[in-house]
Amino acid sequence: MENYKHFLVLLIFAFAVGFVSVVLVLRWVLSFREGLGWDGGPTEFNWHPVLVVIGFIFLQGIAIVVYRLPWTWKCSKLMMKMIHAGLNTLALVLAAVSLVAVFDFHNAADLPNMYSLHSWVGLAAVILYSLQIVLGVGVYLLPISPAYLRAALMPIHVYSGLFIFTCVIATALMGITEKLIFSLKDPKYKDSPPEAVFVNVLGVLIAVFGGLILWIATRPSWRRPSEEHLRRVQGRDPELESSKPAAAMSDRPDPEASKDARRRGKTEESGGAA
Ligand code: HEM
Repeated sequence: MENYKHFLVLLIFAFAVGFVSVVLVLRWVLSFREGLGWDGGPTEFNWHPVLVVIGFIFLQGIAIVVYRLPWTWKCSKLMMKMIHAGLNTLALVLAAVSLVAVFDFHNAADLPNMYSLHSWVGLAAVILYSLQIVLGVGVYLLPISPAYLRAALMPIHVYSGLFIFTCVIATALMGITEKLIFSLKDPKYKDSPPEAVFVNVLGVLIAVFGGLILWIATRPSWRRPSEEHLRRVQGRDPELESSKPAAAMSDRPDPEASKDARRRGKTEESGGAA
């Protein structure tokens, strides 16, 4: 129970911080910058931070923890996989549009492309994210891959998902810093004008959101219980499954990654899904 409350507090805090980040990035481009448009100018550039914060950061963060929401444990694993894949795909589409905006802006202003560390890490993250989605759908959503392959790839899928998300947070912080240095001229960034302070706060919130999502996603005791466990609970008392998520949370042992992969494999062989 205590564990469950702890989970809920962190989850609500994470969602609130993510939501406020979205509001702040909109306020930044609408009040401090030129607003939003699609004309190759600064208004088109502004879609870049807005879409990455909404999609690549906020939606991706939700997609990462979506299996852990106890009230979704009564949904089938297939449904949860579709929600996970759907949110990630939407985040990828928004990230792709945000890149079109920034490349368009650079080309229209005759600025060089892909010179900064921000752009290198950012583009690498988008490419890896696309591969992660294609592999994830191919291995876990299409009913063609063998159980041993699903089990063997699961630790890699989890690790690379968290790695990409971390790179995205780092990229956003680099991008924010760059943008403030480029655009604040008089007063300069180093003079801490109101926009600089406002956007620094946005950066801190993005980092906090990333930290909370990574923490929630790496607590073994907050994982979705195995399909076997959920079926057992449902078979004995269907009410228990939806009404006592905390019981299921504390019920589950913290298996080592390799043992867990084997268990997932067995679960799949017996009709469940990873
Ligand atoms: C987190 C996800 C992000 C990714 C994947 C990403 C990716 C990229 C890429 C690939 C470029 C190169 C475009 C070109 O060379 O024409 C770029 C440019 C840029 N981005 Fe981002 N970006 C992200 C977030 C942000 C954020 C939040 C800001 C804040 C305003 C930002 C600011 C910039 C700026 C100022 C440039 C132009 C200078 C440069 O090329 O480094 N980016 N971004």
